[in-house]
Amino acid sequence: MKFFIDTANLDQIREAQDLGILDGVTTNPSLMAKEGIKGRDAIFEHYKTICEMVDGPVSAEVLGTTFDEIVSEGKELAKIHEHIVVKVPMIKEGIKAIKWFTDNDIKTNCTLVFSAGQAILAAKAGATFVSPFLGRIDDSNWDGVQLIEEIVGIYNAQGYMTEVLAASIRTPLHIVRCAAAGADVCTCPLPSILGLLKHPLTDLGLQQFLKDAATMK
Ligand code: G3P
Repeated sequence: MKFFIDTANLDQIREAQDLGILDGVTTNPSLMAKEGIKGRDAIFEHYKTICEMVDGPVSAEVLGTTFDEIVSEGKELAKIHEHIVVKVPMIKEGIKAIKWFTDNDIKTNCTLVFSAGQAILAAKAGATFVSPFLGRIDDSNWDGVQLIEEIVGIYNAQGYMTEVLAASIRTPLHIVRCAAAGADVCTCPLPSILGLLKHPLTDLGLQQFLKDAATMK
C-alpha cells in the first residue's frame, strides 16, 4: 500500500518525506484554505512547491462544477508539474470531465466518494484514483473500511485499473485496516502516520535496553 499525506502544509510534508516512506500528497480546498493561500497564482505556486518536494503524485482539486470549468481548470493544473493529478468531485459533470481527462492522458482522482456505485462510475470513466472518504462514513455511523473492502472486491472482480485511495483517514487503526482491506493507497494526516510508530512495550523495552547498555560502558 502506498502512503500519501493528506495536507497542504509544507512542514508536515517535509516531516513525512524525511521518514522516507512518502509516496505522494493529496490536498483539497479546505486544506489549502487552512494554509491561508489566496488567489490563483499563490495556489499554483504552492502546488509547484509541493510537487518539487515529493517524488510522486500530488492531487490538486478543481473548484468549478461544470464540465467546461472542470476541464479548463484541470488542463491548467496539469501544466504546473508532471506530478499533478487533477482531483474532481463525484458529480455528473465530474464524471464527464474525468472521461475527457482519461482520453487526453491527464491523471485524475475522483473525490467525495461514499458508495460502491460511485466508485464503479469513477472506474468506468477511467479515473487514476478513486477516493472513498472512510472517516466521514464512520462519522455518520457506518463502517468506512467496509466500503473500502467492497470497492476493492468489485475492482478485482471487474479488472478495473483505478487505484483505491482510502481518504479521510483519522487514526492509525484506519491505516492498518485499509492495508488489510487491500487499498492501493492510504492518504493520511501526519499524526495518523506517526501514530503507527507507537507502542508502550516498545518504549518500555527500549528504556530497559538503554539502561542495560549503560552498565556495559
Ligand atoms: O482529502 C480528502 C479527505 O481526506 C478529507 O478528510 O478528515 O476532512 O474527512 P476529512
